[in-house]
Amino acid sequence: MDALQFHRHRRLRQTENLRAMVRETHLHVEDFIYPVFAIEGENVKQEVPSMPGVYQFSLDRLNDEIAEAVELGIKSVIIFGIPNEKDEVGSQAYCEHGIVQKAIHQVKQSFPDLVVIADTCLCEYTSHGHCGVVEQEEVLNDPSLELLVKTAVSQASAGADIIAPSNMMDGFVAAIRRGLDEAGFAHVPIMSYAVKYASAFYGPFRDAANSTPQFGDRKTYQMDPANRLEAFREAESDVAEGADFIMVKPALAYLDIIRDMKNRFHLPIVAYNVSGEYAMIKAAAQNGWVNEKQIVLEMLLGMKRAGADLILTYFAKDVARWLKE
Ligand code: PBG
Ligand code: ZN
Repeated sequence: MDALQFHRHRRLRQTENLRAMVRETHLHVEDFIYPVFAIEGENVKQEVPSMPGVYQFSLDRLNDEIAEAVELGIKSVIIFGIPNEKDEVGSQAYCEHGIVQKAIHQVKQSFPDLVVIADTCLCEYTSHGHCGVVEQEEVLNDPSLELLVKTAVSQASAGADIIAPSNMMDGFVAAIRRGLDEAGFAHVPIMSYAVKYASAFYGPFRDAANSTPQFGDRKTYQMDPANRLEAFREAESDVAEGADFIMVKPALAYLDIIRDMKNRFHLPIVAYNVSGEYAMIKAAAQNGWVNEKQIVLEMLLGMKRAGADLILTYFAKDVARWLKE
């Protein structure tokens, strides 16, 4: 008698051990980069209202937070600075004793093995909140490059292990690569925010970093969320200019782009699991509407399955803890 012919996929799903043996994607603590916000002042540990569990730290409180991350096995942090004073040209971004330079120096002194990444942009430091120099409400490209190069060199001088430019000016990788090389930092890699969309998912970050643009939006320099081919053009030029990593940002609504980048380029691909993605889950979890741990692990696994080698996430410490359980 003919048996009914069909495939039994469930054979490989029968037990936890069997499922573990055929699992294709894994999360490791090495995959995660933990973002921290350093702020001027003393004894500050100020929670960001739209990002429960994320804080701005003054330098005297910062090491405790980093120590916790290091103890959990995290290998890398990215530091954002919140200066006391902002001006038209973002002077505090490239000041030798700027908040981020001090934070990088302190963290490297205390945790020499930790890979410290510097976000290279001007928007946290400019009075208008844009990522470059502004003239008559227009963000100018080439004049911004000079300031971004100065920022990157000052961060490398402070001890940053990786420079991560997030400004989306044209030619920023070439300019920064050259500036770093000339200043004796040829060994410092560039993690380019190559593919960065003009996204509503950055809202909570702008609260955390006080970096909301005072007029207009970032659509003349960040990418249109509708575009895919443009992501290839952006990444192609950054690779040609000497980028060592390619970042895609945001992550959750752009998993297709992560996969595109992974397939096309042979550099480490970094996904930025941004503030709005964090805030959505936190809000739903606080209401008891989703299981935070399960949903976070599933989301991050999705990013890795899409092709991310590394994930920058505010959940990094939580994940490190969960992976130990
Ligand atoms: C600055 C910068 C932004 C983020 C990282 N670096 C925001 C922006 O472009 O306004 C967003 C990070 C996040 O939302 O978590 N250029
Ligand atoms: Zn910026």
